[in-house]
Amino acid sequence: MIPGFGRELPDAVLVRGIAGGSFEQVTKRLGVLHALRELGVPVYNDARAIERSVDKSMTSLLLHAARIPTPPTWATESPAEAQRIVMRESAAGHALVLKPLFGSQGKGLQRVGAVSGTHQPLPPLDAGFGALAYLQRFIAPLTTPGYDWRVLVIGGRAVTAMRRVSSHWVHNVAQGARCEAAPLTPDLAELAQAAARALEMDYAGVDLMPSAEGAPIQVIEVNGVAAWQGLQRVTSFNIAAAIVADLVDRKCAATANAERRA
Ligand SMILES: Nc1ncnc2c1ncn2[C@@H]1O[C@H](COP(=O)(O)OP(=O)(O)O)[C@@H](O)[C@H]1O
Ligand SMILES: [Mg+2]
Repeated sequence: MIPGFGRELPDAVLVRGIAGGSFEQVTKRLGVLHALRELGVPVYNDARAIERSVDKSMTSLLLHAARIPTPPTWATESPAEAQRIVMRESAAGHALVLKPLFGSQGKGLQRVGAVSGTHQPLPPLDAGFGALAYLQRFIAPLTTPGYDWRVLVIGGRAVTAMRRVSSHWVHNVAQGARCEAAPLTPDLAELAQAAARALEMDYAGVDLMPSAEGAPIQVIEVNGVAAWQGLQRVTSFNIAAAIVADLVDRKCAATANAERRA
C-alpha cells in the first residue's frame, strides 16, 4: 500500500529523487518502482533505466557499446590492477578521475596519475569508494575557466542546453559552477539523444565535455534522476511542462497500449 492512495495505485509515477540509505533501504525503494512497473503503472524514468544510469560503470559500458564518444574507463575491485592502470596512464602523460561508482553532484571526485606534471597516487579505495576503483581518463579543459555542457533530453529529443562554468575542474552546479545559456547545436543534440537512447531513458540530463582540438565532444554521464533548477534559470524552455506532457502523452499512452495488447 502506498501512503495517500489507500488500496488504489497511482496513474503514473514521476521519480524526482531516491534518498540515499543502506543497501537494503535503496534496494527496497527501487523495488517499489520495479513493482509499480510490474503492476502496469508508468514509471518515469523506469527503475531499470535509473539503475543503469546510477551505476557509472554500466553507463560507460553502454555508451561505449553504442559507439558514443566517452573517455577510456576502467572499473576494478583489485587495488593492484587499479594501481597498474594509474601507473600506465600516468607514464603516458594522462591524469585519471577516480569517482565513487554511485556518486552524484560532483562529490568525492579525485584526480590521480599525471596531474599538472606531478604524479598523484591512488588513495585507499575503502574510504568513500566502496573498495572499488572506477577510473576515467581526465579531459583537460580547453579554456580558463573550463566548462562542460548539460543537455536535457525529454522523450528522445534534446530540448535545451546550458554550460556549467567554473575554475575548478568539477563543473557541477552543486560544486559552485555558474550556469550559462548555451545554444543546442546539432552535435550536442545528437550525442545527448544517442546517450539517452543507449540507456533507454524517458528523460535524462546528459553531461558532455569539449575535448582537444579536432576530437569529438565526449559524453561523461547520463543522469536518470536529473535536477533542473539550474538549467531552468537560464532557459526560457518550460522544462516541467515538457516532462509532464511527455509522461502523459507518450509514456502513459505507450503503457496503456502495451496493457491492451497483453
Ligand atoms: N573524465 C573527466 N575529465 C574531465 N572532467 C571530468 C571527467 N569526469 C568528470 N569530470 C568533471 O566532473 C563532473 C562530475 O562528474 P560526473 O561523472 O558527471 O559525476 P557526478 O555524478 O558527480 O555529476 C563533470 O561534470 C565534469 O565537470
Ligand atoms: Mg554529472
